Amino acid sequence: MTAANPIGVFDSGVGGLSVLREIRRELPGEDLLYVADSGYAPYGDKPGHLIEARSIAIVEFLVSQRAKAIVVACNTATGAAIETLRARFPLPIVAMEPAIKPAAASTRSGVIGVLATGSTLASENFERLFTRFGTDVDILIQPCPGLVEQVEAGDLSGDQTRALLEQYVLPLLERQADTIVLGCTHYPFLAPLIREIAGPSVAIIDPSAAIARELRRRLADTGLLSREPHAGTEHFWSSATPDKAQPVISQLWRAGIEVWSLPDTPACR
Ligand code: DGL
Repeated sequence: MTAANPIGVFDSGVGGLSVLREIRRELPGEDLLYVADSGYAPYGDKPGHLIEARSIAIVEFLVSQRAKAIVVACNTATGAAIETLRARFPLPIVAMEPAIKPAAASTRSGVIGVLATGSTLASENFERLFTRFGTDVDILIQPCPGLVEQVEAGDLSGDQTRALLEQYVLPLLERQADTIVLGCTHYPFLAPLIREIAGPSVAIIDPSAAIARELRRRLADTGLLSREPHAGTEHFWSSATPDKAQPVISQLWRAGIEVWSLPDTPACR
């Protein structure tokens, strides 16, 4: 493994692009590989063993593409599979978790709201966070069925997306939440609409930039930070058909890019 190898990033779908853009900002010289498992999204309503099997198969694929480090750009996959991935793959693995800690440190009202998938909120990881910080502040948990699908369809501001967000955000405000944690990597793409609904005084917390900094630290500590002077490249794969994947990844990445079909991953059939 050398510092010139690429970094592998994956999500249940296109949400992890919100993390990828922060990684690109933080590490402009690194080559990046991205897998959107959109053919299986949403993970939030799938059993843990399936999410784990998908995560293993995708990391195997990224390793076959010579990835030197992995970013699990999915809170749901982190909750279901992070221990297994770390036990199985001997390379730096950086993972997401809802940013309860900074939210708890910065709330003034003492009430924070967490938007996430049902399975993230039911995970042991989340339970640990809840127990650790829930004594200092009120943590309101809000599962958000349907939101991942809206982002997968590239609908960031239509009526149905707005109606879902109002249904999820307004009750948090009524209960005095002044801080909203985006506990799913699809949701930063909805941040402008969340801001519109919540108003200017509510803090919206997206941990992606902190994850990108953590990745830089891990690469530096392991001698894997790229020293290449040129701008890094990006390659994209999806388990959805290219005609579906291409337009939405191009929309969210804000560039016309090519999306390759993720090769068959028989472990999950
Ligand atoms: N982006 C994933 C996450 O961070 C979405 C999970 C899903 O597909 O339900 O949790």
